[in-house]
Amino acid sequence: MINFINSIKSKGIKKIEKSAISEIIRVINRPEIISLAGGLPAPETFPKEIISSLSQKVIEKHWNTALQYGSTEGVILLRKIISDFLKEKGIKAKWENIGIVSGSQQALDFLTRIFINPKDNIAVEAPTYIGAIDAFSFYQPNFVEIQTDEEGAIPEKLEKILKNKKIKFIYLVPTFQNPTGKTMSEKRRIEIASVIKKYNTILIEDDPYGYLRYKGKHQKPIQTLIPEQTIYLSTFSKILAPGLRLGFYVANDEILKLMKSAKQTSDLHTSNFDQFIAYEYIKTGSFKKHLPKIINIYKKRQKTMLDALEKYFPKNFSWTKPEGGMFIWIEGPKNFNSLKTYWKAIENNVAYVPGQYFFVKPNQGKNTMRLNFTNITEEKIILAIKKLSEIIKKNI
Ligand SMILES: Cc1ncc(COP(=O)(O)O)c(C=O)c1O
Repeated sequence: MINFINSIKSKGIKKIEKSAISEIIRVINRPEIISLAGGLPAPETFPKEIISSLSQKVIEKHWNTALQYGSTEGVILLRKIISDFLKEKGIKAKWENIGIVSGSQQALDFLTRIFINPKDNIAVEAPTYIGAIDAFSFYQPNFVEIQTDEEGAIPEKLEKILKNKKIKFIYLVPTFQNPTGKTMSEKRRIEIASVIKKYNTILIEDDPYGYLRYKGKHQKPIQTLIPEQTIYLSTFSKILAPGLRLGFYVANDEILKLMKSAKQTSDLHTSNFDQFIAYEYIKTGSFKKHLPKIINIYKKRQKTMLDALEKYFPKNFSWTKPEGGMFIWIEGPKNFNSLKTYWKAIENNVAYVPGQYFFVKPNQGKNTMRLNFTNITEEKIILAIKKLSEIIKKNI
């Protein structure tokens, strides 16, 4: 049976089934392990009392529509309220141009489905979000890497790519990027937007972390500069609860129509019940009240990790110091092999993600690693960083 199944597998599934990262995830789920590897929000940040009372409210006020099949693009009340609250970010979008998806991950899948044939070019930052690499890989594109510096994608490098190749879309996470935590300045955003404007291509701007800012000033999304050429994605996963699987996108009429077709054949629509919870979360002002509590927890954890790195880590290592988000990116000297050290760390019950998995081309990022600070207590952060630095010092 196994041989038979192997013989009928699609090329797409073959591209992603052997993801090396799955072995790593399997290991870090062991209870004795202190994990800096995941990318999960802390359960303490889930507003469970609010969700409980809003669920009651949804049943009382909206039961008829909340429990029925619904529209593929999403609940209109939610789309309208998202359109209002995006104005604060500078995004001017009519509610008709907002679509609801089951997590922004689903939008990444659909966007590839509607635009990409095998061997089409997609440009991504090096490094970039693993979940996007996997979603895109299913459709067998040709990945083109955009070189990055301390602010993310470098405009001149992007321009060189766009000049020489037909790129179907560019995927960027300009704010508190996963995996590096890097954020583009306003100047960089303007430069990137002007390059994209010059060429006939599309930007997918993925912004799950924009609200998780612990200091500094908010940066307007690139979408605000080139709305016609951008598909903006965001999510309730980091500001409400990821288990609700609620994401949304902003796109022009044509793209929205294509996304609707993709979604219709996939799951008809996202849970109406969850959409009403999100609607009430914003409408009742609970979101505005709750967000500072999430920020307060993460801000302290991030500071604890940065302080511990400063205190314990070898001096020839460097790391990002993001003003928000969920991750810190570490770069060691050239002779540091983060995958080899990973297995030593596991023997000592500490986990992280070796950085090489965030690159689409081989032999990159071997001396890098991604650390998460959101889903772990401050005591454990200190313990983990201390242990990790001892292991690293012993192994290089
Ligand atoms: C950059 C990025 N995009 C998308 C997602 C997926 O989020 P969602 O829960 O909305 O599917 C994540 C999740 O961690 C992410 O880091």
